[in-house]
Amino acid sequence: MRGGMSFWHGKRVLVTGGAGFLGSGLCHALARMGAQVTALDAMMPGTGALAANLEGSGARLVRADLRDGNLAGVTRGLDVVFNMAAQTSHAGSMADPFSDLAINAEAQLRLIAALRDGSPNATVVHASTRQFYGTPRYLPVDEAHPLNPPDANGVSKLAGEQYWLLEGRVQGRPVVSLRLTNCYGPRLRICDARQTFLGIWFRRLLEGQPFEVWGGAQLRDLAYLDDVVAAFLLAAETPACAGRAFNLGGAAPVSLLQLAEACVAANGGGRFEVKDFPAERAAIDIGSYHADDGAFRSATGWAPKVTLEEGLRRSLEWFRLRLSAYV
Ligand SMILES: NC(=O)c1ccc[n+]([C@@H]2O[C@H](COP(=O)([O-])OP(=O)(O)OC[C@H]3O[C@@H](n4cnc5c(N)ncnc54)[C@H](O)[C@@H]3O)[C@@H](O)[C@H]2O)c1
Repeated sequence: MRGGMSFWHGKRVLVTGGAGFLGSGLCHALARMGAQVTALDAMMPGTGALAANLEGSGARLVRADLRDGNLAGVTRGLDVVFNMAAQTSHAGSMADPFSDLAINAEAQLRLIAALRDGSPNATVVHASTRQFYGTPRYLPVDEAHPLNPPDANGVSKLAGEQYWLLEGRVQGRPVVSLRLTNCYGPRLRICDARQTFLGIWFRRLLEGQPFEVWGGAQLRDLAYLDDVVAAFLLAAETPACAGRAFNLGGAAPVSLLQLAEACVAANGGGRFEVKDFPAERAAIDIGSYHADDGAFRSATGWAPKVTLEEGLRRSLEWFRLRLSAYV
């Protein structure tokens, strides 16, 4: 890793969405390396937000909503911002596109304005998504792939990313956007499928219940939390990343059926049923996806280190010890 501990020690860092799945993972890693970490989170119901996610991290949790105007208290004197807060539900974005837009696009403008006042030179790493490529026209998907958002969330996340990249161009602020694939690991929301189908698979496996696989042939390149966190840190540490949007993939692609079998193996047993996609999900499904993240690897030297088998084993082990806090 490039700068690692020496880069982060004493750095003043804001993690928006810091009580969520990926944000809290970043908070733990940053605090371990001696950064002064503030986690801003509105603790939105239905998301991965959980105060317990930050236990033992040493990060300061500030409960605030990016949609509110007054962010000055948390945006002064920062070195780095990891911008993880979002409305992430695809089905939710179709049911209520206005809230989705307010968080993923309009609130981003509020944060941009607050940072102009309080931290004009802070580096920003923005959590973006593969979602807005839509159904891939070719695989693996590189950054030149046409954009074709399949749902309202894809539209709002694209707008949010573009506001940040614009800010980088016009203000000279170092901004990096990482377009994430499906991520998993400790602190994922597993009580239901709102964050990812894998959450409910984990829960059912740990409770000794069968889980449902919809379709089964779709390919996914799942990224384990530690690899995602390492990528965000490197994006902030590497000046050559500034001004760019990168795909971030994970382990080698597998079909959902292979993934289900790997989950059962990692759990040491379990059952699943293969079903057709429910109609409302099929309408916004993107089919198979895996990323060409060669550009990010070349810029930073990053590569995922955790195999799918190891990541699933570690995740299930982690939740097994804390199941009651997460279901
Ligand atoms: N997890 C994945 O597989 C994945 C894939 C692609 C992109 N992403 C992106 O990564 C980021 C983090 O995702 P995650 O999986 O950790 O989700 P998460 O739901 O666990 O975390 C998001 C957090 O943002 C907070 N939040 C939402 N609206 C807010 C607001 N208005 N003000 C303040 N806080 C607010 C929520 O309370 C939650 O804690 C998101 O931007 C998401 O779009 C994640």
